[in-house]
Amino acid sequence: MKEKLKIALIYGSDRENRLCAVIGKWVQSELAEMPGLDVDVMDPLELKLPPRFMAEETTAVADFRRRISEADGFIVLTPEYNHSFPSTVKLILDTAYDEWGRKPVAFVSYGGMAGGIRAVEQLRQVVAELSMVSVRAGVALANPWNDINERGFSPSKPAADAVDTMVRDLGWWATALRVARQRDLSVN
Ligand SMILES: Cc1cc2nc3c(=O)[nH]c(=O)nc-3n(C[C@H](O)[C@H](O)[C@H](O)COP(=O)(O)O)c2cc1C
Repeated sequence: MKEKLKIALIYGSDRENRLCAVIGKWVQSELAEMPGLDVDVMDPLELKLPPRFMAEETTAVADFRRRISEADGFIVLTPEYNHSFPSTVKLILDTAYDEWGRKPVAFVSYGGMAGGIRAVEQLRQVVAELSMVSVRAGVALANPWNDINERGFSPSKPAADAVDTMVRDLGWWATALRVARQRDLSVN
C-alpha cells in the first residue's frame, strides 16, 4: 500500500481574533476526509518562533525545522494584508531553508473581493527561491466573514470542491517529488 503523504497545514496569521483559526479548522475538516493524508497542523501561536533571528538555534526553531523536513508537501493558509501576505508567513518561510526544497506547496487564501490572490501571487515568487514547486490549483475565499456562523466556517460546496482539486494537484506533486528526492537525479 502507498505510504501516506505527510502534509503540513501552515496557519499564516497570529493576529488577535484572527479568522485564520476558524478557516483553518474548516480546511482541517476537509483534509480529514482524505484517507491518504497525514496532516500536521502548524500554528504560529504554538510554534513560538523568535521574532528575530538568533545566533543560537532555539529549541522551537529546531523542532519547527524538523517538522518541515518530515513533510512531503505544504498547504499555506494566508490572508491578504495590504495586497501582500502577512509578515507571519514570511517569518515561517524564512526560518527554514533546505527543509522546504524540492517539495510542493498549495495556497488557501482569503480576504476581501480578491480572495487573497494578491498574497498568493507574491508568495509564488518567494517559494521559488526556496526551491519549492507552487501548484496551480488553490482555494481563494472572498469575504469569508459572510460564511461564518455558530458552527464555524460554512462556505458553499464550490469551496469544498476547490479544496479537493487543490489536494489532488498537491498530492500528485508530493508523490512525484518524494520519489524523485529518493533517487539520484544528478545530470552527470
Ligand atoms: C493589516 C491588514 C491589512 C489588510 N489588507 C487587506 C488587503 O489588502 N486586501 C484584502 O482583501 N484584505 C485585507 N485585509 C483584511 C483581511 O484579509 C481580513 O481582516 C482577514 O480576516 C485577515 O486574516 P486574519 O483574521 O486571519 O488575520 C487586511 C487586514 C489587515 C489586518
